[in-house]
Amino acid sequence: MKVTVFGIGYVGLVQAAVMAEVGHDVICIDVDQDKVDKLKEGQIPIYEPGLTPLVTSNYEAGRVDFTTDAAKGIEHGEVIFIAVGTPPDEDGSADLKYVLAVAETIASHMDSHKIVINKSTVPVGTADKVSAKISETLAKLSKSVTYDVVSNPEFLKEGAAVNDCMRPDRIILGTDSELAEKKLRELYSPFNRNHDKIIVMDIRSAELTKYAANCMLATKISFMNEMSNLAEVFGADIENVRRGIGSDPRIGYQFIYPGCGYGGSCFPKDVQALARSATSAGYKARVLEAVEEVNYAQKEKLFEYISRHFSGDLKGKTVALWGLSFKPNTDDMREASSRVLMERLWDAGASVKAYDPEAMEETQRIYGSRSDLELMGTKEAALEGADFLVICTEWQVFKAPDFDLLKEKLSLPLLFDGRNLFEPARMMEYGLHYYAIGRGLSVKEQ
Ligand SMILES: NC(=O)c1ccc[n+]([C@@H]2O[C@H](COP(=O)([O-])OP(=O)(O)OC[C@H]3O[C@@H](n4cnc5c(N)ncnc54)[C@H](O)[C@@H]3O)[C@@H](O)[C@H]2O)c1
Repeated sequence: MKVTVFGIGYVGLVQAAVMAEVGHDVICIDVDQDKVDKLKEGQIPIYEPGLTPLVTSNYEAGRVDFTTDAAKGIEHGEVIFIAVGTPPDEDGSADLKYVLAVAETIASHMDSHKIVINKSTVPVGTADKVSAKISETLAKLSKSVTYDVVSNPEFLKEGAAVNDCMRPDRIILGTDSELAEKKLRELYSPFNRNHDKIIVMDIRSAELTKYAANCMLATKISFMNEMSNLAEVFGADIENVRRGIGSDPRIGYQFIYPGCGYGGSCFPKDVQALARSATSAGYKARVLEAVEEVNYAQKEKLFEYISRHFSGDLKGKTVALWGLSFKPNTDDMREASSRVLMERLWDAGASVKAYDPEAMEETQRIYGSRSDLELMGTKEAALEGADFLVICTEWQVFKAPDFDLLKEKLSLPLLFDGRNLFEPARMMEYGLHYYAIGRGLSVKEQ
């Protein structure tokens, strides 16, 4: 099938690559000429496991191409995906300017029936806005061409995006058009062989399903973080509590890890956007507002521990920081907890020696060169000359460090762990002063 994808980001590029892999003929369009040029030279703009070979092999085989030429892409695709960003507006609601700009571009160039598929995460009612933008533009140009607008939200997880797109849990199709449903069933049939994963529904429900999924996951995290704070207040250990509640199959073990807050390009903005669109519709989304508030406070947690430990005097301290990306297996730094921590440390007069397996370039891009940030080539190098260690991201390579080396390199035997990777009792045996999230007992004992 001939497919066009607008937006070569985490969603657009991965979707394009997996669709090309199964044999569809894909053109990707982006406004970023530099990104397009680099992709044509085999340089992949993001880190995502398994993505580079998938993109390069399909590009070489001629099944996927990259261009800034929108007219070419629109002529090519019978189905056209919109996978551009929907960043937060000033008040936190989703900014639809990129989505609507693409809708206008599609209408300006289309000369035959198109199925326009919204893959970006967008507020309920956006398909109607896209539809209105297309008809308005067609009318202005006195063109009479038919089209369908479908909501097909994306559920991939950064760090596992290729696998998620190859083997999706579900494929949500929000449409009232039989033709669009038939075409999309055909498009997705290579990913739908084991059992039927396609769930067809009305467009507004599909749009809300995406937000509901992300908000549910964010709620689980904020709920556990709230429990971790209570564990500290009451002198309990959240890791025992986690195992205790996870064993109930109605709750389950997944996604109930306490930590130093959620980040990334989706949860923070989607919780905010749904809460804001609820407010605009005259409904106060109390749970969502609380989820956001808890997360905001949780991102301050590591700095609070550190500051309390040093009685607020961090001037001149050097902090080794392991983990910069918002979660493992990605280089994405959007809303990462590490950013809040680094900024607080800098404000307090400390400097940071950081290491991350993939997000160093992105950190450099965001913060540029500054005297209080050194990006180190290895996790061991980050310890060199540092006073203590903080862990912000649970990359596998941080899970079994050489604790003797750690003690030898750091000027203080002190570890702040934002992801609860270690057992407090073991840390005590190693002679390390260990802070973790919500493990009140262990902190109190020391
Ligand atoms: N990143 C994720 O994990 C994820 C998962 C599910 C859904 N989503 C949603 O998918 C959407 C895209 O997210 P992303 O992370 O891939 O974004 P991204 O920022 O990585 O990529 C967006 C791309 O769109 C391009 N673009 C902007 N305007 C354009 C235009 N007019 N024409 C062509 N290209 C244009 C940008 O240059 C950029 O390359 C968002 O709505 C997001 O919420 C993201």
